[in-house]
Amino acid sequence: MDLGLAGKSVIVTGGASNIGRAIVLTYAQEHAKITLADLDVEQGEQVAALALKAGAESVQVVKTDVTQLSEVEFMVGQAIQCYGGVDVLVNNVGWDKLQYFSETGPEFWQKIIDVNFVGMLNCTKTVLEPMVQNKGGAIVSISSDASRQGEAREAVYGGMKAATNSLMKSIAKENGRYGVRCNCVCPGVTVPDTDEEMSANSMWQDKSAMFTDEQFGKIAKSLPLKRLGKGQDVANAVVFLSSQKAAGYVTGQVLSVSGGYTMIG
Ligand SMILES: NC(=O)c1ccc[n+]([C@@H]2O[C@H](COP(=O)([O-])OP(=O)(O)OC[C@H]3O[C@@H](n4cnc5c(N)ncnc54)[C@H](O)[C@@H]3O)[C@@H](O)[C@H]2O)c1
Repeated sequence: MDLGLAGKSVIVTGGASNIGRAIVLTYAQEHAKITLADLDVEQGEQVAALALKAGAESVQVVKTDVTQLSEVEFMVGQAIQCYGGVDVLVNNVGWDKLQYFSETGPEFWQKIIDVNFVGMLNCTKTVLEPMVQNKGGAIVSISSDASRQGEAREAVYGGMKAATNSLMKSIAKENGRYGVRCNCVCPGVTVPDTDEEMSANSMWQDKSAMFTDEQFGKIAKSLPLKRLGKGQDVANAVVFLSSQKAAGYVTGQVLSVSGGYTMIG
């Protein structure tokens, strides 16, 4: 199916690694014009080269710390200057380190809040005006299944992802009249297969700090679909939700792409 994304201006934050990388490469196959915003520009450029080969109409990499509003404003300005506007924002940046809440403190909480939530506020606020002016746009935010039922060792992260779900619903209600749709995708455990798929500061650089191989195996076995997630699984849902042609009547929704880990009616 042609998703009608060819030539559209798409921003993907955190596009240099794992899920974000798969999202960039999937928009490339749809011939979009892509702004890849990440802290890791070197890895971003490698993903950009792959995206051009995969069919992207154009790709620019803009070094951005999404927690800094001024840097986000510069990055969105680049998208508007180069591609004439912003049709799609994918809020993909996120970060976590698995620890029991009782072992964490304010410095750690603030980092989780800034990277997982303040970054989304900055990016969402900055694209809204051009989208409203343009009378349309789509925002897809990457949340987590940890937002839906709580997870041990992910208390603050899960809380911020639940905040993201609620934020997107509110923004969807406020801006539907302007043709702006907002949705969330919740991955389950989604692990990069190779080093090539990870940026330097990917939270997967030390996989064993997340789970042991035995734990990864147990998680996969416990899922109805019997395997861990891949970046491509998440990317397919993101691209679908951002397509006006495919999902033009879908807004304010939270979609799990997690092999059946959560099933929420
Ligand atoms: N991988 C999973 O198992 C999983 C599960 C549930 C939800 N998620 C969510 O999916 C999203 C992507 O996860 P991933 O596994 O691909 O992560 P990752 O750590 O592999 O990649 C994140 C990317 O974001 C960039 N980044 C980090 N902080 C940034 C900042 N302040 N400004 C700009 N860029 C920054 C990093 O450089 C990196 O390229 C995140 O929102 C994450 O919370 C992931």
